[in-house]
Amino acid sequence: MMKEIYQVPTSQSLQGDVIISGAKNAVLPLMAATLLCRGISIINNVPQLDDVNTMAEVLRYLGAKVEHQNSSLTIDTRECDGYQAPYHLVTKMRASIYVLGPLLARLGQASVALPGGCAWGPRPVDLHIAGMQALSAKVELSHGNIHAHAGRLQGADFTFSISSVGATVNLLLASVLADGTTRLFNAAIEPEIDNLVDQLNAMGAQIFGKGTSTLVIEGVTELKAATIDAIPDRIEAGTYLIAGAITQGKVTVKQVQPAHLTALIDSLTATGTLICCEDDSITIDAQQRALQPISIKTGPYPLFATDLQPQWMALCVSLTGVSQVTDTIYPDRFQHVAELCRLGANIRVKGNTACIIGTPNLSGAPVKASDLRAGAALILAGLIASDYTEISDIHHLDRGYQNLIGKFATLGATIKRSHHPVATNQAIAAPLLSLCG
Ligand code: EPZ
Repeated sequence: MMKEIYQVPTSQSLQGDVIISGAKNAVLPLMAATLLCRGISIINNVPQLDDVNTMAEVLRYLGAKVEHQNSSLTIDTRECDGYQAPYHLVTKMRASIYVLGPLLARLGQASVALPGGCAWGPRPVDLHIAGMQALSAKVELSHGNIHAHAGRLQGADFTFSISSVGATVNLLLASVLADGTTRLFNAAIEPEIDNLVDQLNAMGAQIFGKGTSTLVIEGVTELKAATIDAIPDRIEAGTYLIAGAITQGKVTVKQVQPAHLTALIDSLTATGTLICCEDDSITIDAQQRALQPISIKTGPYPLFATDLQPQWMALCVSLTGVSQVTDTIYPDRFQHVAELCRLGANIRVKGNTACIIGTPNLSGAPVKASDLRAGAALILAGLIASDYTEISDIHHLDRGYQNLIGKFATLGATIKRSHHPVATNQAIAAPLLSLCG
């Protein structure tokens, strides 16, 4: 049996420019929104990622025609009458649940497999369901599926007990065709939500309060297809900025919106790096600078993003001194800790806080990516660990980082991807992917 893997040997300080792709977490809701109309929708600035392909599979399963050329998606929903999103697709990607709202709104019924947990614990969808019920849908859970029915959804007030990106997406997608006014309180204000509001309003929706936690939606009877550009991927950009810091290099991320990364920029500046922002680029300069680890606490946007927490931990691990990383969004999001410790890190986790005693002397070892961002953290740690770091289960990284090898190569780190035989009777011998310094 063969397994694909990345190998990361020690790398020099990264130097250069990297172009950031469109945001995975913006594109997925934009794709689901096309189910609200019968027409041909266009989404631009779409990255080539496994998660985008999975959402395309879900839409095709529902009857849509989906074409992905260069960085544009053409989605034809004129013949789209399916209302079931099956387990084999939903289990590949939780965001498949985003079809619940638009199917219920346009067809009056939806049957969507319940997404299971993920690497770091249960991720309930109770707010998605409670929101649909608030809009008068009848929802039943059976045999691992959410079965929802409604005549025309009825506008209503709904307050999110927790700020949830996914539930805000689903409620927006459901309420735009509802009868009457819907008011969403404590809605998520992530930039990906604003991108979706722009698309829906371009389709003819009536949504007010963009960028605030109170969204008011005046239901309409019909929506038309539209064209929308996806915003840049702030998490991909943040990953490369932290790569610049951890290797004490000088990196510019291009085609980004610096305003989407204020919390990260403030924390990187506090470590001692120099940050320079232009209209659509951010440069980090960490060359010959004595950096110090800085504690962070994640939170809903615009606070420090939980999707940059593992990468930040990799940086703190590499700097002399003590720091803490607290995750208030996912208290259990620490699967990367044991793998970083395999590289020689000194980390103790208590509750939702990891206490890090930094050491610049990491050494390469075989490690495993437990999820997308944990995988990114292991790549970053591998860039400064001695010898080779061999990362397996890299399929997680394919879900959210486009052309990872090519982009690191533009910064001076040569990563290769290779197949490696898996010893059947021994622990996975960690297929290698060689990176020549
Ligand atoms: C989105 O997930 C992102 N995924 C995640 O990024 C990101 O980590 C997360 O938002 C937080 O920023 C996509 O956009 C596809 P939530 P989502 O609903 O929508 C709780 C990545 O690496 N909650 O905002 O699933 C939940 O358990 C991924 O790109 C409920 O309790 O996150 C969590 O503690 C990983 N009930 C909190 O709310 C619900 O019904 C925030 O979750 C829904 C959520």
